[in-house]
Amino acid sequence: MTAQLIDGVALSRQIRSEVGARAAALAGRGRTPGLAVIVVGDDPASAVYVRNKVKACHEHGLHSVLEKYDAALSEPELLARVAALNADPAIHGILVQMPLPRHIDPQKVIAAIDTRKDVDGFSVLSAGELMSGLPGLRPCTPYGCMKLIESTGQAIKGKHAVVIGRSNTVGKPMALLLLQAHATVTVCHSATPDLAVHTRQADIVVAAVGRRNTLTAGMVKPGAIVIDVGMNRNDAGKLCGDVDFGAVREVAGWITPVPGGVGPMTITMLLVNTLQAAESQP
Ligand code: GUN
Repeated sequence: MTAQLIDGVALSRQIRSEVGARAAALAGRGRTPGLAVIVVGDDPASAVYVRNKVKACHEHGLHSVLEKYDAALSEPELLARVAALNADPAIHGILVQMPLPRHIDPQKVIAAIDTRKDVDGFSVLSAGELMSGLPGLRPCTPYGCMKLIESTGQAIKGKHAVVIGRSNTVGKPMALLLLQAHATVTVCHSATPDLAVHTRQADIVVAAVGRRNTLTAGMVKPGAIVIDVGMNRNDAGKLCGDVDFGAVREVAGWITPVPGGVGPMTITMLLVNTLQAAESQP
């Protein structure tokens, strides 16, 4: 049986329209949600990402400012900009695009962002809130993956979920979100001796490795939910994920495509986080 596609574009459209309505209601009460995006240097991928983030804000009634700085910007200068945005009442979310130039310590910059404005959910405090089961801002990509899993209508509680990858931005928070939803969670990574032993038992697999064909058809339990976070290029230069999509879709029950799966959800959840930050700030 061929898997049902989990359409990240359609789900994004639905959530973004809800964001637009809530943002308009908030704006009507004099508080337009505001996002500040800072980019330092001229990384071409970062330029595309930040442009899309700012565009999505404008399309859904959020205020946004894009601050672009030369790669020579010093760490104290960047920290001063973050401090100014922390104090700016028109700004409810602050995102400093990664990667930063080598002379700037990303952890120091992330730590400088007011936790209430940490819409990336990257700070130690935000991570601690997630770890402790407290309310807070969740990292956008794993948060979007949860929405994609939930959109299948299948219960997460009691299921076995396998997360492949242990990054601070995706793998680790993904595992914690699944745990919070009462899944039994296994985290696999580059030192896991036999990945297939784990993935074959999984009702839910989230692949977040950054290497194509990490998950092949023989590694998947029939009927499983497969979420592909990967963004790679194949030999023909075409965008592809970490999953051997063509073969795995014949085994899985549900699967996200690349492109059109997790990708659009990351920006969508950034809008959700900015809205949540605006709704909860005094
Ligand atoms: N660089 C690539 N993805 C992201 C992201 O989601 N947030 C930030 N701050 N930088 C990134």
